[in-house]
Amino acid sequence: MTSEVARLYEAFPFPSPEPESGLIDVVAREMPLVLSDASLDGRRVLDAGCGTGHTLVALALRHPEAHFTGMDASRRSLGVARHLAERHGATNVDFVHGTMPQLGLTDRFDLIICFSVLHHLPDPRAGLSWLTEHLNTDGLLHLWLYHALGEHGRMLDRELVQLLAPPGGPAAGLDTVRKLGLTLPLAEYGFPSGWTGSALSQAEQDVFDADAYVNPVVRPLRFGDLPPLFDGLGMDWLAADRVYFPGGVKFIDLDGIEPDDDQYVRPESLIGDAALRVRLAALGSLDRVRALELRLRPTGFRVLAGRGASLDRCVPRIKGNLLPLPRRSTEDMPAGHRDELR
Ligand SMILES: C[S@@+](CC[C@H](N)C(=O)[O-])C[C@H]1O[C@@H](n2cnc3c(N)ncnc32)[C@H](O)[C@@H]1O
Repeated sequence: MTSEVARLYEAFPFPSPEPESGLIDVVAREMPLVLSDASLDGRRVLDAGCGTGHTLVALALRHPEAHFTGMDASRRSLGVARHLAERHGATNVDFVHGTMPQLGLTDRFDLIICFSVLHHLPDPRAGLSWLTEHLNTDGLLHLWLYHALGEHGRMLDRELVQLLAPPGGPAAGLDTVRKLGLTLPLAEYGFPSGWTGSALSQAEQDVFDADAYVNPVVRPLRFGDLPPLFDGLGMDWLAADRVYFPGGVKFIDLDGIEPDDDQYVRPESLIGDAALRVRLAALGSLDRVRALELRLRPTGFRVLAGRGASLDRCVPRIKGNLLPLPRRSTEDMPAGHRDELR
């Protein structure tokens, strides 16, 4: 983490500087929509870049059968996280201060979640490499990333803030955000009233706006950027999971195996013309996801990647969403998954 990124999160611990604020239960609640065995029995889970731990503590409380580690480069954020864990009586969680990829950590994990962190690293590939090194043989990696298509406008606003902000660190940056009349439109991330479902306090709004417009390092990505990023990192598979966009939040379901309801989306459902739908359906998985992102222009997206038997721990929807990893012979694919990569 650059010292500027560190300064930002020391000044504005994300997502909330208030240990009294509500936990963010959404990841814990929705885990069964990703993992078929969501019990996490005896598993070790790392939240890399856990911030103030509002998501991590909710996960730890929902899964007393697992052990959780929160790692973050911001001491102030970890202070809030420790306080939060104590207040809620979460005894199955510990915290480590450190920066990817420099942190030396001997532990290995069965599940690593890393939400809204990698795109803030000066070298996302080095961060990804660190994450994969800390995965067990059957480990699963869950990433949430900014999406380049939906974030284009915000990146321009951020550039204007950087251009006009006087020296004075993150507080001066936020002051410039206010003077320009900018505020992060949470609805464009599918969370019109914030992640906890309740309105943000002024301190939380400041944190979200500083994170959105003052962050010195932001590198939004697209689905197609992920296979080359994973190249050579020893992962067996990569799959699309979810998109966040102005119209809502949807799980991607390339094979159309989930119920035809509002929670799920297939690329073909975004194209009205029958002949074009047929053409789209004949494309490979990465091109179908490409059509989906071109149509929805997401602000954020999630992917899963794993090793060994980890794919079998995921719901069948994830098996239908596999994206090709480069230089990987289909002969090496886990049995039964070869045909899914057209
Ligand atoms: C936008 S916040 C996300 C926090 C949390 N994952 C969430 O989704 O609520 C980004 C977090 O990543 C941390 N961070 C940024 N770069 C890091 C790095 N290289 N190593 C460890 N933590 C980092 C920051 O300190 C901050 O807490």
